Amino acid sequence: MTQSSTTPRPLIAGNWKMNGLSVALDEARAVAAALDERPAAARVAIFPPATLLHRLADVLAGSVVLVGGQDCHAKTSGAHTGDISAEMIGDANGTMVIVGHSERRTDHGETCQHVAAKVEAALVAGLEPIICVGESLEQRQAGEAVSFVIGQLHNSLPASLKGQAFSVAYEPIWAIGTGHVASVDNIIEMHAAIRAELISLFGEQGGGVPILYGGSVKPDNAAEILAAPEVGGALVGGASLKAKDFLAIIEAA
Ligand code: PGA
Repeated sequence: MTQSSTTPRPLIAGNWKMNGLSVALDEARAVAAALDERPAAARVAIFPPATLLHRLADVLAGSVVLVGGQDCHAKTSGAHTGDISAEMIGDANGTMVIVGHSERRTDHGETCQHVAAKVEAALVAGLEPIICVGESLEQRQAGEAVSFVIGQLHNSLPASLKGQAFSVAYEPIWAIGTGHVASVDNIIEMHAAIRAELISLFGEQGGGVPILYGGSVKPDNAAEILAAPEVGGALVGGASLKAKDFLAIIEAA
């Protein structure tokens, strides 16, 4: 990816989802060691399951690899069995958090209003959020992909993001974990629409917010996707679980 002095470094984010036992820490160690030896152009972050968050942060302390949570609750603490707060992610030495992933929106009924409240909580805790949006196959086939995603984005971004570091991830639901990557034309169209909305919401700041693509990013398609206009990085699921594949994607940025 070509970068001007005003373009932020691309962000390559590995979302481990509900994968990763203790042994997976070795993969993260291998990523950190390789980047220590050969520094990457991109910023790199790993989002492990909550059970590994603290240990992963310890493993990666002193490395360039950032650590974050896959979700956070909108409240700081309280009677919310099974949830974790943004403050807890920070307490475990995470510095980032993914919010609004389609698997959260679908599996847990999270609305854009929930997502915006979570983003607020993340900012209060000092975390850098990645806010996810994306359409279903039905919406794309009905020709509603762009209008749906822009509406989702509009309703998921609280005004308090003004002046704060954050990224947006465009992840078409039909491309996640399926091997069906969106076409570069689809990606270019959607990222341009997202950029226009970000500028309309945040002015000049909106011009620099990284817009990641996610959905079946692999070593063999990463370079083409990352070279597309307005693609500021990738949110990588399956291919982030093995250091070799994740490093190949990082090198493509
Ligand atoms: P995938 O997941 O790379 O396995 O398609 C991407 C994501 O959901 O973040």
